[in-house]
Amino acid sequence: MTRPSLTERLARHSAERAQAGLRRRLRTVDRVDGAWVERDGRRLLAFCSNDYLGLAQHPQLIAALKQAADGDGVGSGSAHLICGHRSAHAALEEALAEWTGRERALLFSTGYMANLGVMQALLQRDDLCVQDKLNHACLLDGAQLAGAELKRFPHADVDGAARQLDSRSDAAALLATDGVFSMDGDIAPLAALAQLCQREGATFMVDDAHGLGVLGAQGAGSVVDSGLSQDEVPVLMATLGKALGCSGAFVAGSTALIDGLVQSARTYIYTTAMPPALAAATLAAVRLAQTEDWRRDQLNQRIARFRQGAAQLGLPLMPSPTAIQPLLLGDAQAALDAAEALEQQGLLVTAIRPPTVPQGKARLRITLSAMHTETDVDRLLDALSRLPTGAPLARPV
Ligand SMILES: Cc1ncc(COP(=O)(O)O)c(C=O)c1O
Repeated sequence: MTRPSLTERLARHSAERAQAGLRRRLRTVDRVDGAWVERDGRRLLAFCSNDYLGLAQHPQLIAALKQAADGDGVGSGSAHLICGHRSAHAALEEALAEWTGRERALLFSTGYMANLGVMQALLQRDDLCVQDKLNHACLLDGAQLAGAELKRFPHADVDGAARQLDSRSDAAALLATDGVFSMDGDIAPLAALAQLCQREGATFMVDDAHGLGVLGAQGAGSVVDSGLSQDEVPVLMATLGKALGCSGAFVAGSTALIDGLVQSARTYIYTTAMPPALAAATLAAVRLAQTEDWRRDQLNQRIARFRQGAAQLGLPLMPSPTAIQPLLLGDAQAALDAAEALEQQGLLVTAIRPPTVPQGKARLRITLSAMHTETDVDRLLDALSRLPTGAPLARPV
């Protein structure tokens, strides 16, 4: 037999990754307490969670989850279109549509599934899908799985996007971008991209996973913050597992779009609906995110404090105004060493390496939260200033 073994090939890929210093390591967190986690018997102050508003352990979310589970049980029992769609899902969808200023919203079990489902429902083979080079993996995968021609443009480069659209001016086209880039933290040029799409007759899609709850009045996200209507951004997707502290995702847009997704999005149709108790907890999170501006104020204060301190230390900050504050180190091993050294000092910060980010762009992905105190931020800055001077970090100016 000459047939190659798939499992052996996979093992070879893993070994190659390890050799290149790119092996991923799964570690278990035993307890979470606000910004602190306990791992391997050690308490660590975490700067890597996406719980930007500090809602994941909020008593109101926990109470809503328990109360709904008491009434509805745990699992939804089936897909939405069978008998899994409960009143908790409907209430959450209504609240999300109202919050984002869209006619309707549709829940998906994860953001990954939402993006795959939208792309597969909207795009046909050989349609054009134009995307920012730094878009999240699931947007890129979605275009490829749909069989569309994927053309990427340089990061945040509106002229580059225009060139890609122009290259096939008669093709049906979707232009998709992260609202806030998940590894860089900067905000896409949404208004200019929306104008481009209007001019070119392309459909504009924004993935606001890291903007919802954090940006805009009442935390309605980057699209609302840019003043863009449903006509200008017909496809708005966001996740529920980041600033809202829960899990899942939704797509918001016109009644026609949502009806179309219900009919055609395979990751909506052929999967079990999210637990209704989770939808109830998420609704409690939406209400808190809308009304408790102090959480965003506190987060913004922590971001400002971190950026000011990091600039004084001469750290390689990136131009991000959001909760995601990467420090670019370049080399994958340098990022791993820095994360390890921070852990020695009691801090949990993740090293992000290729292929999650481009070659030579490894970094520490520091995330800030409303849960962090000023002392927490100062502690992080102090630890960063103590990193070995061989690293491209910690060069006081
Ligand atoms: C921009 C972006 N879109 C989509 C996702 C996927 O969302 P989920 O974790 O709900 O699958 C993520 C991260 O997880 C993300 O950062």
